[in-house]
Amino acid sequence: MPFAEITGWGKCLPPAVLSNQDLSTFLDTSDEWIRSRTGIQERRIAHVETSDLATVAAQRALAAAGLNASDIDMIILATASPDTLIPSAAAKVAQNLNMKQPAVLDINAACTGFLYALHMATGLVRSGMNEKILVIGAERLTHYLDWSKRDSAVLFGDGSGAVVVEASEQEVGLLASSIGSDPEAREILFIPDYGTSASRFHQPNGIYALNFVGPEIFKRAVKGMGEAVGQVMQKAGLSNDDVDFVLPHQANLRIIESLAKRLGADESKVLVNIQNYGNTSAATIPIALAEALEAGRIQPGDNIMSAAFGAGLTWGAGYIKW
Ligand code: ACO
Repeated sequence: MPFAEITGWGKCLPPAVLSNQDLSTFLDTSDEWIRSRTGIQERRIAHVETSDLATVAAQRALAAAGLNASDIDMIILATASPDTLIPSAAAKVAQNLNMKQPAVLDINAACTGFLYALHMATGLVRSGMNEKILVIGAERLTHYLDWSKRDSAVLFGDGSGAVVVEASEQEVGLLASSIGSDPEAREILFIPDYGTSASRFHQPNGIYALNFVGPEIFKRAVKGMGEAVGQVMQKAGLSNDDVDFVLPHQANLRIIESLAKRLGADESKVLVNIQNYGNTSAATIPIALAEALEAGRIQPGDNIMSAAFGAGLTWGAGYIKW
């Protein structure tokens, strides 16, 4: 059975920066509150669609892998903010890149989407059903935000990251993973006024209600990610000392710190960029991965432990051997 090597990676962050200071000019909030509660200092705001962000990250990932777009046989795009309900944002990426006839689909596992997508792509490549898959996490979550609500407006940002997963004889890539959910907590992070169960299909002003119970998410995220990481470590036969880098979803610095503590990882081993981009949902993990690779921090042979949680509540963890 082949392995599923990550042969290319790329990211795309839109250039417009919105700082905490900027937010405090129109919201009753402060740089101090946002930094101390979340670790966020600024975030990026896209004026293009999610598929545009995804396309740029995908182009960069293809270039790094030395592949043409026509080599790809599937795109799995993790997003909770697709441009349109149908067709998928992945279909738009395929069109933008003039691809031949790849399978295209979006998946929505919210902030855990990238790990879900990588888990699925790895399974397909290792089983021989597909050979080269583009796995993308891309979001334009700021489009949903109600900019008059300080509790949610300060948390999110836009961006994308992509990887190419290819069949390989080398024992690298996602070697162990665990994904799941906490159904009991479905409603603690919820956009209730969109979709077929909503009483109103579209808000006249394009604004949706993002309902969430922050402290409850915090508690369940720490537990869910911790358990998922424990399962993956056990499957892979790893101990804390074997982990070279922790690659966490970036929703809150304090959640990241508690995960790092559980893994006994000091600061130098934890890939953190929440200060620059906020929570870009399904894109946080591939963006942080691409950034660490561009900076030369991750080297061949390194063991990376990734973990995420998101609406659902979904959770997941994955061990990537570089
Ligand atoms: N600026 C100033 N004050 C604020 C702001 C703000 N931006 N937002 C909320 N507050 C106030 C609240 O009104 C509340 O005031 P009150 O006590 O007078 O009612 C007070 O701050 C405390 O509010 P809490 O919600 O209890 O704040 P908490 O310390 O829990 O921090 C946070 C909120 C950062 C969201 C935290 O709960 C958290 O990180 N949760 C996990 C991550 C999360 O929920 N992310 C959003 C969903 S996306 C995802 O997680 C996948």
